Amino acid sequence: MTAPERHPLSPRLDHCPEGLPRAAYLDPGWYRRELATVFARQWVMVGRTVDFPAGQMWRATVGEAGVVVLRDTDGALVAWHNTCPHRGSELCLTDGQKVGKLIRCPYHAFAYSAADGRLVSTGHAVPTADFDRAAHGLRPVSLQVWNGFVFLNLDPDPGPLWADVGLGTLDNWPMDSLVTGHGWTSEIACNWKGFWENYSECLHCPGIHPELCDMVPLYKTGIMGASEALDWTPDSPAQPSLRLGAQSWTPDGAPCGETFAGLTEAERAEGYRFVTLWPSAYVVAHVDHVRSVRVVPLGPERTRLVAEWHFPAATLAQPGFDAARVAAFATLVMQQDGAASEMNHRGIRSPAFRAARLMPEEYEIHRFHQWLLAEMENTQ
Ligand SMILES: [Fe+2]
Repeated sequence: MTAPERHPLSPRLDHCPEGLPRAAYLDPGWYRRELATVFARQWVMVGRTVDFPAGQMWRATVGEAGVVVLRDTDGALVAWHNTCPHRGSELCLTDGQKVGKLIRCPYHAFAYSAADGRLVSTGHAVPTADFDRAAHGLRPVSLQVWNGFVFLNLDPDPGPLWADVGLGTLDNWPMDSLVTGHGWTSEIACNWKGFWENYSECLHCPGIHPELCDMVPLYKTGIMGASEALDWTPDSPAQPSLRLGAQSWTPDGAPCGETFAGLTEAERAEGYRFVTLWPSAYVVAHVDHVRSVRVVPLGPERTRLVAEWHFPAATLAQPGFDAARVAAFATLVMQQDGAASEMNHRGIRSPAFRAARLMPEEYEIHRFHQWLLAEMENTQ
């Protein structure tokens, strides 16, 4: 079928471009280049602020780097490379390891200020005058908090945090006060980009997600938003996103507690709002709860998903409240997406596969590829 003209303001592509080459999903060398470029310069979500209580050290991984995250004596979050500048040993061995004002290397007892990384003690070693203590402090990792989520960046002079629809998208959600009530972690046998590509299109929705298509009727037509429809014009009347009577992505569509008071009528009517934070996470905000999903590359053909559901404290305190029941809807969708991503990856391993040919509805995958290649070629 040849497409009729799309509206010029439609996000649909006006051509069918080629995707990334097969090696992008399999080759260890390509994977290492991604870690050394994309994951070394972009902000990577590692958790919520409450995941890092005072008096303890926590380990995080950003690209190839092990990182230790902790709070200084003022309670501010700081992050250091998890390596001793003396001989290189890991500093933090386990999550939740106790720490005070000093981070003490478990190997030779060199001690560093937790707050500013300064070398404070060389243990039993007595350096000669040529040793410059100031040049041997801990190496910092950039850290920032957005809506209660902690992001790390290996670049000492990082660019701004980036989100596809703008960082103000969740301004009407009380993000800082939400409490994590449920978690789900899964490891899938595919390249990290494969999961993002699946996330970026809904052509697979009718075949893979019957329950989600029931919740969001538009998805039955294989598109993510009304502006992707071929007959769409800017004057097309807006339609409700969720099926009649549904307000949230819960098994029965009913809100799981009080809905957020600060949302606009439009935000309520939308029923869900996605914020994409390549390469590491996305956030889905509903009228009653918020879900975050981290996409963690483990190797060229292995990816971890870390999903968490965040609720108002009052919702969690409801008698008999079952966060797992609320989470069951999106968990099913993510399981379906994980299985589809694995199925696609197995096919990509065929030597007969060269590169995808993207359809107009896969504009977001094309944008992802263009972004990725630009980041990888940017070697500054
Ligand atoms: Fe999907």
